[in-house]
Amino acid sequence: MNEFCQPSADDIAVFRTIVGDDQVVTDPELLNTYSKDYTEDLRFMPAVVVKPGTTQEVSKVLAHCNTMHIPVTPRGAGTGLSGGALPVYGGVVLSMERFNRILEIDERNFQATVEPGVINEVFQQAVREKGLFYPPDPASKGSCFLGGNLSHSSGGPRAVKYGTTRDYVLNMELVLANGEVIETGANTLKYSTGYNLTHLLIGSEGTLGVITKIQFRLIPHPEQTLLMLASFPSPENACEAVSGIFRAGCTPSVCEFVEPEGFRLSSTMLNIPFEIKEGIGAYLLIEVDGNDLNNLMLDCEKISVVLDEFGASEVLLAQSSDEKEYFWKLRRSIGEATKHGNVYKEEDTVVPRAELPRLFSGVKEISQRYGFRTVCYGHAGDGNLHVNILKDQLPDAFWNGDLDKAIVEIFELCKKLGGTISGEHGIGYVQKKYMPVVMPESQLQLMRGIKLAFDPRGILNPGKIF
Ligand code: LAC
Ligand code: ZN
Repeated sequence: MNEFCQPSADDIAVFRTIVGDDQVVTDPELLNTYSKDYTEDLRFMPAVVVKPGTTQEVSKVLAHCNTMHIPVTPRGAGTGLSGGALPVYGGVVLSMERFNRILEIDERNFQATVEPGVINEVFQQAVREKGLFYPPDPASKGSCFLGGNLSHSSGGPRAVKYGTTRDYVLNMELVLANGEVIETGANTLKYSTGYNLTHLLIGSEGTLGVITKIQFRLIPHPEQTLLMLASFPSPENACEAVSGIFRAGCTPSVCEFVEPEGFRLSSTMLNIPFEIKEGIGAYLLIEVDGNDLNNLMLDCEKISVVLDEFGASEVLLAQSSDEKEYFWKLRRSIGEATKHGNVYKEEDTVVPRAELPRLFSGVKEISQRYGFRTVCYGHAGDGNLHVNILKDQLPDAFWNGDLDKAIVEIFELCKKLGGTISGEHGIGYVQKKYMPVVMPESQLQLMRGIKLAFDPRGILNPGKIF
């Protein structure tokens, strides 16, 4: 892989001809912004950033890089948490920031055609104005790009009822490594026409092609939501309550788990008050949605009965949209707040829902045994627990050494419980060394074979996944 070429002055001149002078960045200070994403504190400098504005431009840039064997790292908003956008072999960062148009919202078919550089929340709001709903809502929805969401099949709190990004993509326009432009499927709700390339591309982290257009399916927007915050003395009981809610026949639109330290960190960073009462071990943030408020109240009552059965000490129902927004702000900021005052590593563990209690207690047992602190929170209804490992005062030798053994133990536990090492953040750069923990060589070989078929010279986002 190291035999890649870095772009020469001639190559950069070619890029300037293709996309225009203004859309090629070589100034080191500006390049710096593209050397990192939200993953820990990792940095890799690209040689050049190229910002195409059309599919044709993407095609020409890729064709040139493929011929010259220059590595290309496609990039969205850089909010990823597994290092997917880091140009680990230098070369070209292909920034999709100019692909920021919603091309069509088709109200007749409940579909939309969108470019990959549109911000998730901008898209959500645009379809909301037409009474339509695009549910995937990663915590970074205010800044992340839809293209990045496709790259990892991003989830978010609402995935528990509505599924992840994958469940809303029908088709896409894709530029292959050699510059050829294809469609991956059709604009239909059903697709049984050979291999489903659309689904193969979703979650492929920019290693198989560059997405230049996305066809989404949409659903009607629910009119009402109710939001509850339940506190529990025991985190294990909170985890147990999660599958209890579903077993009672309820389908919340959100079911999030938060350790008190998570809310403490976000309230401190945001400088908004949040009282953590004595003896609280965990919270569940639960939302129900639909069109009939009376039915939603009944759902909340039913859920409250389950929460009581599992020992909840208090269940609050948010009284206004401001109060809902307050809880959401605290919840969405936890990841950023953890990073704010500490060095940390973020693990995206996921297990079948009913195994969540065993995952949580296993993580705590492992962290105690190795002597580090974790802040756990996440999408409990999906069995998806974000485990933030804090460096605190731990020696570098441990952080860069034995901590790895602890992470492997956590991932082995995920595997044993029927789970895996990432539910929504992807493998990218930082998790690839753990892939063998959850899959045999034969499975990895199949994936490498697919990579080779799409990108024979290996120029697309090298150093990721494998
Ligand atoms: C969250 C992001 C980190 O759930 O996935 O907050
Ligand atoms: Zn998450």
